[in-house]
Amino acid sequence: MIIGGSASQDLAAHVARELNEELCYVETKKFPDGEKYLRINGTIDEEVTVIQSTGYPQDENLMELLFIISNLKDLGAKKVKVVVPYMGYARQEKRFNPGETISAKIVCELIQAAGADEFITFNIHEECVLNFFDIPARNISAMPAIAEYLAKKFFKKSSKEALVIAPDKGAYGFAQEISKIIGCECTYLSKVRLGPDKVETRIVDVRCDDAGENTVNVDSVKGKHAIIIDDIIATGGTIVNAINILKQYGADSVDVCCVHPILTNNGAVRIYEAGANKIIGTNSLSSDTSRVSIAKSIADALRE
Ligand code: R5P
Repeated sequence: MIIGGSASQDLAAHVARELNEELCYVETKKFPDGEKYLRINGTIDEEVTVIQSTGYPQDENLMELLFIISNLKDLGAKKVKVVVPYMGYARQEKRFNPGETISAKIVCELIQAAGADEFITFNIHEECVLNFFDIPARNISAMPAIAEYLAKKFFKKSSKEALVIAPDKGAYGFAQEISKIIGCECTYLSKVRLGPDKVETRIVDVRCDDAGENTVNVDSVKGKHAIIIDDIIATGGTIVNAINILKQYGADSVDVCCVHPILTNNGAVRIYEAGANKIIGTNSLSSDTSRVSIAKSIADALRE
């Protein structure tokens, strides 16, 4: 049995269809004072999977997730698998400054305390967050799904002129994953974060990466179809900088891919304004850019 929280109902319906499982409906409404009412309709199976991303409004979506998990256990479910395609608060996995709350830790503890028996997420910003759980917790990559989409939509003819680019070194692994699947070269830019909504991006020479593998030099971006890949696009600042620098170095066209299209503060508009043809996100979060479905990846993970 699959249950979709209100942030992930369409995705849950697709997962249920992939698995040929029953989709159970959750009814939610708000009381006049703003508190949430939640009711799960139908008879509860012994094993249930809840799907709910905890993006904006984070606190509401998280509270709803906790209500669903705890309610399922009260209603007789023996095992509750929790799929949080996009996990909010995962970027604060440690104290960067004295006195800060380690939000990711608290969120994991709450999900577990509510009754989760297993946890699955996608491209979590810091994988070490999963260590805050004592239950089995998995991080799945949406890169194969994104690569498959790119291969079908963009590279029917040839992938020779494409160059996959990570906007910072942290995202280089994603660029490598995608480029391997679609069969083209990849590289990364250098990013320095100056504040929550300010980043500076530079060109780096990465003819040879840390592992000694040959990669392309960013100078060779000239005339290429650049495909930028990142885990999250939030304000879009990182991507706008990357587009500007790639255009400056002669990229012919730029497409932008990400797993989690948060796209806050007019992020999408700024990215298009900077010159991107398309923003390609997954449906870990619902947005106009959610072109790639991770339903099959979730279904495959649940079958394991
Ligand atoms: C950070 O390292 C992440 O991978 C993303 O690059 C970052 O969260 C994007 O944020 P923004 O869109 O606000 O620049």
